Amino acid sequence: MKSEFEFNSPVKIVSGAGECRNIGKWVKSFGAKKVLIISGRSVSKSEYFKSMTEKMKDENTEFDIFTDTVPEPPMEIVDELADMVREKDYDLVIAVGGGSPMDTAKAVCMLKNNEGKIKDYLFGGDKTPKNPSVSLICIPTTAGSGSEVSCASVIEDTTANIKLSCTHPNLYPKLAILDPLIQLDMPKSVTAGTGMDAMTHAIESYTSKNASIMSAMYSRRAIELIAEHLPIVINDPNNIDSRMHMAIASTMAAVAFANGGLGAVHGISQATGGIAHTPHGITNAILLPKVMKYNCMGNTEKFADIAKILGADTDNMTTKEAAEEAAVLIAKMNAEIGIPDKLSSLGVTEDMFDEIVEGTLGYRLLWMNPIEVKDELVYKILEESL
Ligand SMILES: [Fe+2]
Repeated sequence: MKSEFEFNSPVKIVSGAGECRNIGKWVKSFGAKKVLIISGRSVSKSEYFKSMTEKMKDENTEFDIFTDTVPEPPMEIVDELADMVREKDYDLVIAVGGGSPMDTAKAVCMLKNNEGKIKDYLFGGDKTPKNPSVSLICIPTTAGSGSEVSCASVIEDTTANIKLSCTHPNLYPKLAILDPLIQLDMPKSVTAGTGMDAMTHAIESYTSKNASIMSAMYSRRAIELIAEHLPIVINDPNNIDSRMHMAIASTMAAVAFANGGLGAVHGISQATGGIAHTPHGITNAILLPKVMKYNCMGNTEKFADIAKILGADTDNMTTKEAAEEAAVLIAKMNAEIGIPDKLSSLGVTEDMFDEIVEGTLGYRLLWMNPIEVKDELVYKILEESL
């Protein structure tokens, strides 16, 4: 494990059941005069969201609400919203939602103070943000993406059918508020998909070639918390204590991947999402055990450790057997929480494979994967996942 590293975790994190009701206090701490709230449409209709905006009215905070965010945000939507925001004098943005509204908000906060279109700033583009972004508070309504503590915004390049990220320190939110009460309305399938996205972040960052002794500490604890609390929130969605622990675990896993990196699951998933428009969390969940089956040979000690964290009795197993057991346990967990086993259930077809493989091999973080990823391996994993 690397003991020479750089580690960044600059986002202030506030955690507590009911913390959203203190939003007025946090807005005041930024000295904001005009606030834009960016959220998904369904969360904006919830009673809890309304109680939060009522608090802002009580504090005489001037604000607008934009709810037309879309999942897996395409470039056009981001540019349209950025044009609208550039005409107003917002000095604080609050994103309330899952990964998509948060990623949209990060991109818009950056574009408000920097010229050009989002495509110019995505991976392969010719611009980097010169001016600081508008301050951003993130309130995640799902426990998975970890976007609230990362400096990446994943946007779909609709001209090339690929998801690309804009990654720059200026994109870090200033504050993340983890409040389980705003996560109680999450449907079961979203809880499962986003929860396994967090598990993927934890496992890929732990086994990444870029993992350090510091990032691994976050990864290991996140694996442990998700394994314990995800099955509980699936069966008991109003369990506030387990929702709280999932929110914390998801944020921990994101701190881990922002510093330790990711691997082939996210590479294949991002390419698949760009081409087949599949949801990020479920796509990762389906691919995770299939990729682990091969990846475990790249670092048997770490995968054996994962099996132990997941609750396996590895005393009578060799390290290799225990490493292989980790993938088996993740597949079992998927089945228990209702995740489908095949990408075909998300509309992926064999004729998409060539494009998915090409997209995967261009993934920026693929070198961090514990084993080398060549095109034959990606085809093999796709065939076994279809
Ligand atoms: Fe992810």
